[in-house]
Amino acid sequence: MSQPQTKGVDLGALGNAGMQSGLQETRKFPPPASISKSAHVKSMAEYDRLYKESIENPDKFWGERAGELHWFKKWDRVLEWNLPDAKWFVGGKTNLSYNCIDRQVQAGLGDKVAIVWEGEPYDAAKPVASELVRLTYNDLLREVSKFANVLKSLGVKKGEVVTLYMPMIPELAIAMLACARIGAPHSIIFGGFSASAIKDRVEDAKSKIIVTADGGYRRGKVVPLKAAVDEALTSTDVVKTVVVYDRVKGVGGFKFAMKAGRDHLWSDLMAKASDKCPAEPMDSEDLLFILYTSGSTGKPKGIMHTTGGYMVYTYLTSRYVFDLHGEDPAEMHWCTADIGWVTGHSYIVYGVLPNRVATLMFEGAPNQPANDRFWDIIQRHKVTKFYTAPTAIRAFMKWGEQEPKKHDLSSLKILGSVGEPINPEAWMWYHEHIGGKRCPIVDTWWQTETGGHMITPLPGATTTVPGSCTRPFFGIDVSIVNKDGQELPANAGGFLVIKKPWPSILRGILGDRERFLKTYWSEIKGCYFAGDGARRDLDGNFWVMGRVDDVINVSGHRLGTMEVESALVSHPSVAEAAVVGMPHEIKGTGIAAFVTLKTGKAPTEELKKELTNHVGHEIGAIAKPDQIRFTEALPKTRSGKIMRRLLRELASGQEVKGDTTTLEDFSILAKLRDTDEA
Ligand code: WTA
Repeated sequence: MSQPQTKGVDLGALGNAGMQSGLQETRKFPPPASISKSAHVKSMAEYDRLYKESIENPDKFWGERAGELHWFKKWDRVLEWNLPDAKWFVGGKTNLSYNCIDRQVQAGLGDKVAIVWEGEPYDAAKPVASELVRLTYNDLLREVSKFANVLKSLGVKKGEVVTLYMPMIPELAIAMLACARIGAPHSIIFGGFSASAIKDRVEDAKSKIIVTADGGYRRGKVVPLKAAVDEALTSTDVVKTVVVYDRVKGVGGFKFAMKAGRDHLWSDLMAKASDKCPAEPMDSEDLLFILYTSGSTGKPKGIMHTTGGYMVYTYLTSRYVFDLHGEDPAEMHWCTADIGWVTGHSYIVYGVLPNRVATLMFEGAPNQPANDRFWDIIQRHKVTKFYTAPTAIRAFMKWGEQEPKKHDLSSLKILGSVGEPINPEAWMWYHEHIGGKRCPIVDTWWQTETGGHMITPLPGATTTVPGSCTRPFFGIDVSIVNKDGQELPANAGGFLVIKKPWPSILRGILGDRERFLKTYWSEIKGCYFAGDGARRDLDGNFWVMGRVDDVINVSGHRLGTMEVESALVSHPSVAEAAVVGMPHEIKGTGIAAFVTLKTGKAPTEELKKELTNHVGHEIGAIAKPDQIRFTEALPKTRSGKIMRRLLRELASGQEVKGDTTTLEDFSILAKLRDTDEA
């Protein structure tokens, strides 16, 4: 089958919100003196100086920063750049697991807390020890070394992909650090994805082993992860070995199946494993992990990140953007993302631990058992840096300011936002009710492909503006261009591109060089094309408007409209489907699906429910459409292209405007039938 064609990039997808308008947010928040005083970057003058150096002399800038970490062998050259292929710290040998753990133990910090974990069922009034875990760097070294030996004993070799499909438990961090320790790239699949998503990913990565858990807690219920793995493995024989961590331990009669010869219990394997496993010296450019993410076409793509550059970049962005101070025993970093997404990879584990700071992991939902769970966690663990998504902030706003008011949030110093543009109302609420008007907000723009923060305030230096991600990080050369690649003036909306390589730039898409070239390097010649629309204001601050391709951002999670369409048309009743984003109060963007049915199939409410669940089963709950509309035909241009802009306008309840003279059939508009209204 031929690869589906991309539907093309379209700045019009963004509407005119803020574009070309010259409208400027007037509220400005200078960095608080209390933060600037001890910050790694203390002023805008210092930022400007370092930024200039990082662009003009990347070898010096990055070489010095990389030297703060441990290398078995120093690199020969900082950067080799043959567009679009970047190699960083060429010839260097290092290990990220070593830099996350051993380097701290070597420095005498073995007793310092590395990971604090709280399970969803943890109840401070009736604490159960196993639901609140603190792992020191010594503990982590022991557990990671043991699991690294387990992987070796199961035959995992350097370079072989290990799939992790786990809840947010310490064993997930342990497993990923064990993979990095022996040089086996991991492919982490978010626990909310379905069996067929697991099948697609293990087949694409040719991954022979999956590490999973019986289940994990989410909103008071057990998510049966092992059952999803079992279902996935009925339709593929790539996977030969499954390791199962018994997280639920039979509570509430929860059971899972084990298949003899294929499945092994984590605890059985760990009981026999030695706790000594030296970290493998890895080449800077050895594959560290792959992470699947959605694009405009076809199936999710396996984004590849390598060892040295990703390590240095996530270490430095963690350090400067969250202003982490490993020497401060009070430092407690909490990123609320799931490790199944890039945010969790970079800012729960890989960027944070090399900074010698404690990182907090929470298994569950923010409203379990009550709407103040996050604020309760911040108070009890005295969290200093808190990083979450605008969709969560909008939910907190809805739940009301009385929830954070019940708790002492005075430990907080810096707040972060990621995943989608943050609306100024949410920014202000976050600032007032969580940050007590004293914490700088770092609104960090970046992507799975970029590995780390790209445009972001630095808390001790940048004057923040609600809704803007402000300035590029060191070494990041951003530009706003039109489709011919011409740089646009201030306040004009255009495509966001990056003109120079940075250390954690993706090295490719697993097994698909052509898609790598086409997606990122062919839209605008000579530049990395991010797929976002943005503008730069008169002060030099960036405003990201959203995706310009057929990717939608639902609750800060990336989904391809085509993925959802494929899931819909795989249902026996569906003839054709077109999926577009629509404004959604909490999710930012919701999913609207226009569906035509096969002859003889009736557009009923039951069918709508069935289709919604079908998408959930094919991809995962996050992909379930918010709205399904049955239509007799999809509006198409004379050349047969679906008129998406028209569908977007319909889905968002706006009047249909613009030129519709290319419609194949005018009457189609009248025929659009929403059974909600019927
Ligand atoms: C969007 C998540 C505006 C953007 C780290 C990007 C943002 C996509 C922001 C990447 C932000 C992420 N402001 N938009 N601060 N952060 N985005 O790969 O559209 O899951 O292209 O990486 O999220 O999503 P991904």
